[in-house]
Amino acid sequence: MTLDLNLNDLTHVVAADREHVWHHLSQHKQYETTDPRVFVEGKGMKLWDATGKEFLDAVSGGVWTVNVGYGRESIANAVRDQLLKLNYYAGAAGTVPGAVFAQRLIEKMPGMSRVYYSNSGSEANEKVYKMVRQIAARHHGGRKWKILYRDRDYHGTTLGTLATSGQGQRAAQYGPYPDGFVMVPHCLEYRAQWDVENYGQRAADAIEEVILREGPDTVGALVLEPVTAGGGVITPPEGYWQRVQEICRKYDILLHIDEVVCGLGRTGTWFGYQQYGIEPDFVTMAKGVASGYAAISCTVATERVFEMFKDAPEDGMSYFRDISTFGGCTAGPVAALENMRIIEEEGLLENCTLMGDRVMANLNALMEKHEVIGDVRGKGLFCGAELVADRKTREPMDEKKVQAVVADCLSQGVIIGATNRSIEGLNNTLCLSPALIATADDIDRITDAIDGALSRVFG
Ligand SMILES: Cc1ncc(COP(=O)(O)O)c(C=O)c1O
Repeated sequence: MTLDLNLNDLTHVVAADREHVWHHLSQHKQYETTDPRVFVEGKGMKLWDATGKEFLDAVSGGVWTVNVGYGRESIANAVRDQLLKLNYYAGAAGTVPGAVFAQRLIEKMPGMSRVYYSNSGSEANEKVYKMVRQIAARHHGGRKWKILYRDRDYHGTTLGTLATSGQGQRAAQYGPYPDGFVMVPHCLEYRAQWDVENYGQRAADAIEEVILREGPDTVGALVLEPVTAGGGVITPPEGYWQRVQEICRKYDILLHIDEVVCGLGRTGTWFGYQQYGIEPDFVTMAKGVASGYAAISCTVATERVFEMFKDAPEDGMSYFRDISTFGGCTAGPVAALENMRIIEEEGLLENCTLMGDRVMANLNALMEKHEVIGDVRGKGLFCGAELVADRKTREPMDEKKVQAVVADCLSQGVIIGATNRSIEGLNNTLCLSPALIATADDIDRITDAIDGALSRVFG
């Protein structure tokens, strides 16, 4: 059967989608009475769906991914040329884009040394968990096998990474989970767990308390997002990271920074951890690495970590015995190289900082006007506004109303996000993460749409 792709009439495509595609994070009952949205084209910050409606995308492809915007011909050309030259070879060998991108990446990450390729954020994180377990087995006599993770953080969708989900609704109903993953408290001061002056220090001290409770000789690593994304856009309080680093050093605990969202410019520096002077042992990244033009993720380690996997060459079990088939696709690193060049040559880190400040200024102005905004948080083009039913008590806004704000913006042609199926009772933060190419006009249009939506939904 030949496919009749009449781009002027996509009703058959929408029908095919409705009949056969199982959408991510979606209750499909709704599609018995409405059509699923099918996107057809993107250019810069704009998207068009199958009905021809135009949107301004304030969430970089829905989940903080398309950092350099849609329709980048130079990335498409680089990928095409590379696919014709060599599309694939398994990661036990090297390829030209794999080697060159690793070098370019490490140049941006002083202190880091080795890049392990795979193809999703979850997978990149799983690699670290396996490395930590293998280090425990080989270098700590089986101790130091536990991995700490933080309340409200997210690290992926596999069973291993869901075992480190600080978001109950993501993990619920998919257990039981493997042992050895232990939660530490979140650091969101707006939802304070302690009444103290130096909140950052106190929230970090809470990690030390967990380490002491579990026994420092049982804890191998701590995984944290530099700025928590889907858990509510949580920027760390003053003093937090410095103390976290001290604690990790004190108890010989490897620090794993999950840069799946923050990596490649989202906060205005190449990596989120570089905002806070952190010296990690592992860094994982995915989404913005190639802006969604190809699937690629990286697990980056220090030379000290890497050395632990080649200390006993005579032992066939001593090295990292892991493979990711599609980690050998060359489309990923070649797209990532071009993505990085664009960020550099177009000054997108600087633009991100500048436009991020504009988003925050606009959101702060909206907060003056709309009682329902309880808190605004953000770093670079990674911002959130937490909605509350009562500013004094900080009672979270009902999730349906938060979704009504998102829907109102959508009807205005602006796609914004909100925390979703993340934390029971706390899916109340609007999320903004436009591409790093956003202009002042784009930013104002996004926050104007939110202004109108808040007036209509709560007016
Ligand atoms: C912080 C963080 N880590 C890991 C992941 C998982 O990445 P992926 O969906 O590519 O497996 C996500 C996905 O949203 C994320 O936000």
